[in-house]
Amino acid sequence: MRSADVYVLAGPPGSGKGTQAKLLAPKLKVPHISLGDLLREAVRSGTKVGEIAKGYLDAGKLVPDEVAIDVAEEAVTKEACGDGFVIDGFPRTLEQAVLFDKLLKKLKFNLKKVLYIDIPLEEILKRLTGRRSCRACGAIYNLAFNPPKVEGKCDVCGGELYQRRDDTEDVIKVRYEVYKEQTSPLIDYYAEAGKLAHINGSKGVAEVFKEVSKAVNF
Ligand code: AP5
Repeated sequence: MRSADVYVLAGPPGSGKGTQAKLLAPKLKVPHISLGDLLREAVRSGTKVGEIAKGYLDAGKLVPDEVAIDVAEEAVTKEACGDGFVIDGFPRTLEQAVLFDKLLKKLKFNLKKVLYIDIPLEEILKRLTGRRSCRACGAIYNLAFNPPKVEGKCDVCGGELYQRRDDTEDVIKVRYEVYKEQTSPLIDYYAEAGKLAHINGSKGVAEVFKEVSKAVNF
């Protein structure tokens, strides 16, 4: 029988959601969906969603719920997600969470765990100002903690590394405030539903992944 479990990676900006999702998804042999990556791709391709999303991304604010929900729904209804998936950056508001529950029920997915990675703001600033991402394959680096072997080039595919436009100190602070106001209420929402696993994100990548693996039971 096919398992169709869903894992959500949640936490403040820079907590390591993307890094951990990229490790977890291949272990579970399911796709990784990143709402932030999908929205940035839409901006790059100049789609209608991208046109709406651009100003919000640049300012560090959340795109409107209906836009985020449409993008998430399109991604999770793809056939590749049939055996379940790992999603990061969604849901981010209570409204998104309620609609996500309904969508999962409709598609017969089981929300297995919400892995909530927690780190303090000082650590977030250090991590995000040093982040570099590959334009071609999406691999994530950090100039201080996990630098590429060759400056500006991806170790995995040789693609060009770039710095995200929203990784400036001012925008990071806005993103953190937005997270506290609009996203942190989801911690109680999922704790009450018995779905929350609290992960200490302040350790190194491998140690955090050990905690993630334990929470996922493998
Ligand atoms: P999104 O792309 O999701 O950004 P975010 O939530 O701010 O999170 P980040 O991607 O910045 O960080 P992360 O937690 O994935 O950390 P990472 O692993 O990269 O969203 C961007 C924007 O899109 C939002 O602001 C909003 O506008 C819009 N959006 C997205 N979803 C939306 C939604 N649902 N509704 C509405 N709008 C939405 O790691 C960060 C750095 O730290 C890297 O350099 C990494 O190498 C390093 N690192 C990671 N783990 C460790 C570790 N353990 N030790 C040391 N370094 C580490």
